[in-house]
Amino acid sequence: MPLFEVRDLWVAYGKAQILEGITMEVEAQELVSVIGPNGAGKTTLLRAISGVAEPKGSILFSGNRIDHLSPVAIVKLGIIHCPEGRQIFPEIKVVENLELGAYSRTDKAGIKQDMENMFELFPILKERRNQLARTLSGGEQQMLAIARSLMSKPKLLMLDEPSMGLAILIKEMIGQTIKSIKGKGVTILLVEQDSNLAFSIADRVYVLEQGKVALQGLPQELMENPYIKEIYLGIG
Ligand SMILES: Nc1ncnc2c1ncn2[C@@H]1O[C@H](COP(=O)(O)OP(=O)(O)O)[C@@H](O)[C@H]1O
Ligand SMILES: [Mg+2]
Repeated sequence: MPLFEVRDLWVAYGKAQILEGITMEVEAQELVSVIGPNGAGKTTLLRAISGVAEPKGSILFSGNRIDHLSPVAIVKLGIIHCPEGRQIFPEIKVVENLELGAYSRTDKAGIKQDMENMFELFPILKERRNQLARTLSGGEQQMLAIARSLMSKPKLLMLDEPSMGLAILIKEMIGQTIKSIKGKGVTILLVEQDSNLAFSIADRVYVLEQGKVALQGLPQELMENPYIKEIYLGIG
C-alpha cells in the first residue's frame, strides 16, 4: 500500500476548474516530483492535500481518507506543506522560526535534538541562529523554511518550488539537501518548475499540465521522451 494516494482529484475555484482528475501515489520514503508550467495547478494540488482547497475525489494517507479533515488535523497526521515563496516569520530570530515549526510537539528532548539536527543539516542557520530571519539571503530563507517544516517531524514533506528565484549554485545546494532529507527516511512530494533539478533528484516524476497528469514515470525514462526534451529540458 502506498503511503499516500490521490484518486481522481478535482478542484475548482468558483467556476474555474483547476484540477481535473489527478491520480497519483507516493510510496513511503520515496521522493516524488511534480513538474509543470506556471498555472498548471501544482500549488492547488498541495493546497488540496493540506486541506486548504476543497477537493472532490479522494486523498488517502496510510490507507485512510483524509480529504474531509481540517488543515490542523492533516498537519497532526504529519503531512507538512512548505509553501511557495518561503513564508518564514521575518521579524523574529532564526531559532524562533525553528521553534515555531515544532509548535505541535510536546517532546522537549526530541525538539532539542531536532534543533541540533537542523544545525547539522544547515550549518549556515546555526551561524545565523540569533539573527532576525529577514536578514537572511534568499537561499538561507529557503533553508530556514525547509528546516522549520522538518522541525514538525513530517511523515510526508511537501515542498512547493523550493528553488524558485535562487541562483544556480544555491539551487543545487537545496537539491542536495532535499536528497539528504530523503536519506533520513522522510517521504517527499516536491513541486518544481525547475525540471532539471526535479529530474536529478526524484525517484519518480509526474508532469502536470492544465490540471491533468500529462505524463509520469522514472526520470531517466522521461528524460528520453522527445516532448519532455523539447518542452521541459530545452534540448529537443
Ligand atoms: N485562490 C484562487 N482563486 C482563483 N484562482 C486561483 C486561485 N489560486 C490559483 N488560481 C488559479 O489556478 C490556476 C493554477 O494555479 P496554481 O495551482 O497556483 O498553479 P501552479 O502552482 O502550477 O503555478 C491558475 O490559473 C491560477 O490563476
Ligand atoms: Mg505554484
